[in-house]
Amino acid sequence: MFQDLKLRLRDDGFITTNIPASKDSVLRTALQRFLELPLSERMQYSQKKLGVAFDGYSYMGQTDSLNQYDKDLLHSFVLSDISTVETFPETFQEYLKQEFPEQLAYINALEKKVLHWLGVSELDLFYDDYIKQMVSCNYYPALALTDQKTKPLDRLSFHTDVSLFSVFLFGLESGFAYEKSNGKKVLQNAIDEVVLFPGCFMELMTNGKIKALNHGVILPENSSEERFSFAFFSIPEPRASIQHSSFTGSGKAYYEYYLNKF
Ligand SMILES: [Fe+2]
Repeated sequence: MFQDLKLRLRDDGFITTNIPASKDSVLRTALQRFLELPLSERMQYSQKKLGVAFDGYSYMGQTDSLNQYDKDLLHSFVLSDISTVETFPETFQEYLKQEFPEQLAYINALEKKVLHWLGVSELDLFYDDYIKQMVSCNYYPALALTDQKTKPLDRLSFHTDVSLFSVFLFGLESGFAYEKSNGKKVLQNAIDEVVLFPGCFMELMTNGKIKALNHGVILPENSSEERFSFAFFSIPEPRASIQHSSFTGSGKAYYEYYLNKF
């Protein structure tokens, strides 16, 4: 599957590949259709209501989302293979049945390759037993010019992810930025290939040998265009048993531990 795979580790953890980006059209349409629903219908699928890992809807301005701040300028919907397919709204069903399983199998195989390449194949067993995948579907609405003057320039605050790896199967839209270890921020151009980087769970499981990448989304100057982004996160499932020198507990307890960092 990955005979000609070329991985490149950029400074501070950002990993590029030579795998052409997959098309996001089915998932993008599903998200658009979901966001067109009346708020009352969308709220039936709120993160709080679903109550499993990070699954569900977070809206712009929400103060109690697990995966975004109220000042962040996006709506997001998290799907995962922790919840059953029927848990999620009708608009996502076609994607969940036709593309999600195949994409997750591909990402799992890629991540196993990368674990070996990074020299941390000791994580293989834990990966096979306990790692699940979620995809955060993010929509950043177009901003009025007046908003751009009054709002901060970050569309998504800088943060490290909850994940072992964060994978951009559909490539990277412009606006993504990451922080180098010297504190300098690198604004990344759009990339049409699969890219990935380590999150907090990788940092924890490798005792800090592999650091989580600090990243965010910046509003480019003179651009108020809407933006879609889809990030796949490998995370321990809620009932995972994590026995580690720096953390002992369930996957669910790890989510709390991660959230308490912010
Ligand atoms: Fe992130």
